[in-house]
Amino acid sequence: MTAKRILLGVGGGIAAYKSAELTRQLIKAGHQVEVVMTESATRFVAPATFQALSGHTVYTDLWDPRPSNAMAHIELSRRADAFLIAPATANLLFKLAHGACDDLVSTLAAARACPLIVAPAMNLQMWQNPPNQRNIAQLEADGVTVFGPGNGFQACGETGDGRMLEPHEIVELLHGFFADKRLAGKKVLLTAGPTYEAIDAVRGITNISSGKMGYALARACRDAGAEVTLVSGPTGMEAPMNVRRLDVQSAAEMQQAVLAEVGRSDVFISVAAVADYRVKNRSEHKIKKGAAAPTIELEENPDILATVASLPAAPFCVGFAAESQNLLEFAEAKRKRKKLPMLVANLAQQAMGADDNQVVLLDDAGQHPLPQMPKDEVASAIVRHLAALLAKR
Ligand code: C5P
Repeated sequence: MTAKRILLGVGGGIAAYKSAELTRQLIKAGHQVEVVMTESATRFVAPATFQALSGHTVYTDLWDPRPSNAMAHIELSRRADAFLIAPATANLLFKLAHGACDDLVSTLAAARACPLIVAPAMNLQMWQNPPNQRNIAQLEADGVTVFGPGNGFQACGETGDGRMLEPHEIVELLHGFFADKRLAGKKVLLTAGPTYEAIDAVRGITNISSGKMGYALARACRDAGAEVTLVSGPTGMEAPMNVRRLDVQSAAEMQQAVLAEVGRSDVFISVAAVADYRVKNRSEHKIKKGAAAPTIELEENPDILATVASLPAAPFCVGFAAESQNLLEFAEAKRKRKKLPMLVANLAQQAMGADDNQVVLLDDAGQHPLPQMPKDEVASAIVRHLAALLAKR
């Protein structure tokens, strides 16, 4: 994401301590952050904490004479790309929904010239309280973006909806907020990760695919405005927010899940490192060590991507090719054989499990090499290319 100027409004909830970390993460991601706080927020965290982290004066008072025209409530939002209020307490949401202007944060929101985003944080009963739900509905109707809340253990000891999202989740959603909606209205189905082909009750054949590339692409498609379904092999990765994830183990299960979903998909991106073979003589129970080593018989798995690409009403299919040699030659042959309009070629030894990737995009127009970059940037580049091809169809 290109650097943005974020005006961060901190409300008076215990989650205010997480906003210190949020400030740090936003700065680390290259953004500029200016912080304003409500009076009650300063009871939880001192302004000096945010001042040190943001490198800017922290304002708490509508009557602060320091801004040049003595109008902090106007000036601060004029230089921001977004006003993010985190934590947004029930009281603040009530004030925002009704246009109250009785302190700096609420007045800034009323007088802003940039989008407003709120990350609610409160006890679960307060969250569910009908007036609070009415306020949230009103804010959404007014075009305010609501991040979360999350679900889980709360400072009050109860468990449920109302937690402020974690700082990294807010940064991720903010990234999506500013992304171009190139895939708006599209339904994207992806596969990611390895598959696991059982040998017996405790052993299996798998591979070193981490799922990082597929998950990064799922997030990039979501950020581009698509409705995303991710069919994932076993990865241990956190499910991306606002993405529907279906967990599978074997190639057969992956194919079943994909075929059940593909009819309502506009795009199918096959990132998974699907096992080419499964065990034919799979044992239900753990194989005991014996005199002779057991023989494992293999049989071929279905090629999920080729199956989908040859459907009469096939979605736009994007394949991946991980080769260890003759990359472009093998990859282009694969694209032709599987009848794919687009294929992403990468070197297996460089790509699998790594945080960075260097890929070449192959389509009917030829080869498009991309520089080595973090996988989330590779994913954004793939989405841009994909969206451009879709627009030409
Ligand atoms: O032929 P190869 O396995 O190298 O093709 C890689 C591409 O095909 C990837 O997009 C992968 O997700 C997909 N694939 C598949 N089902 C298989 C094997 C590969 O969908 N059984």
